[in-house]
Amino acid sequence: MRESTDPLVDTSARYRAFAEVEARGMSACYERWAAGVAVDPRLVTLIDQLPPTKRQPNLLFGAARLHGAAAGEYAPFAAWLREHWADVAATCLTHVTQTNEPGRCAVLLPALAALAGPLAIIEVGASAGLCLHPDRYSYRYRFADDDAESGGGERMLHPAGGPSAVVLDCTVSGPAPLPERMPEIVWRAGIDLGPLDVQSDADVAWLEALIWPEHDDRRARLRAAVTVAREQSVEIVRGDLNDEIAALVARAPAGATVVVFHTAVLAYLNETDRLRFAAQMMRLPVRWLSNEGQSVVPGVLERLGEAPAEASAFILALDGEPIALTQPHGRSLHWLG
Ligand SMILES: C[S@@+](CC[C@H](N)C(=O)[O-])C[C@H]1O[C@@H](n2cnc3c(N)ncnc32)[C@H](O)[C@@H]1O
Repeated sequence: MRESTDPLVDTSARYRAFAEVEARGMSACYERWAAGVAVDPRLVTLIDQLPPTKRQPNLLFGAARLHGAAAGEYAPFAAWLREHWADVAATCLTHVTQTNEPGRCAVLLPALAALAGPLAIIEVGASAGLCLHPDRYSYRYRFADDDAESGGGERMLHPAGGPSAVVLDCTVSGPAPLPERMPEIVWRAGIDLGPLDVQSDADVAWLEALIWPEHDDRRARLRAAVTVAREQSVEIVRGDLNDEIAALVARAPAGATVVVFHTAVLAYLNETDRLRFAAQMMRLPVRWLSNEGQSVVPGVLERLGEAPAEASAFILALDGEPIALTQPHGRSLHWLG
């Protein structure tokens, strides 16, 4: 577990780790806020009133922004947080970090489209289910200029009914099997410990607050994806993925290839539960598509052989075999040879 999310690490160290490892290069605002908290005993004392699992920077900053904290320098933020502490603490206690990033569909889609259809897709750890609509978004795949396979250029892919208001951009390298058309998805469902309701304005406001301040493109994409997802409701079963998966697989329509997928989820499980889930994926009549941090899915990094140069890269794996390296929010896809 990363230090910033590890409840056993003291608050000052968690915020320092978050500033230096996660926020640096991704959000100047969150880097300043976290670095400031790390050396501010008054705020550390305040944050330590929360249970250890609720002290994580991403949760606290998301809660602060939900209640109106303005992105900016540390000193005004610290003053604002002291003044609004009761509201922020209450939100931390009732919420968890459930960032739902539809951009991840861009790295899932080529793998889904390469499977024999029609498909019945099940996302475990679905949050609000925005990744359960990969066939309803448009894609702009840009080939890296120096990519030997393609030599640059781009490829657009649209839903069967025409272009979507959601256009997902993804830079591609390696021999990615980019599809000519969308996979046929005949059934879809999800599982989450606490599903967010895409129809609920409060839940969508929380999803927006979880997007880091400078990531305006992601906020715009989230709003557009919510509009698409609101048009067709998808069932998301409430419960633990290990407990619910077999029953949900059994409900998939006969004749469809059942694909169980997950992205940025298994890091939340302990080692025992990850192994239990991997064993279920091998036993159930499904194809298993995982898109997770490098050492999260049992056996995947070992099968890759060599750790990717980019420490933050996710590994996309099909049935436990690595097939691509991906940027965690779906911005790039490097297909393995
Ligand atoms: C970071 S979010 C990712 C959401 C979505 N997969 C995406 O990529 O946009 C992780 C989600 O996994 C869910 N989750 C974590 N542990 C879980 C478990 N044991 N069973 C079901 N869902 C779980 C959380 O509630 C959260 O909604």
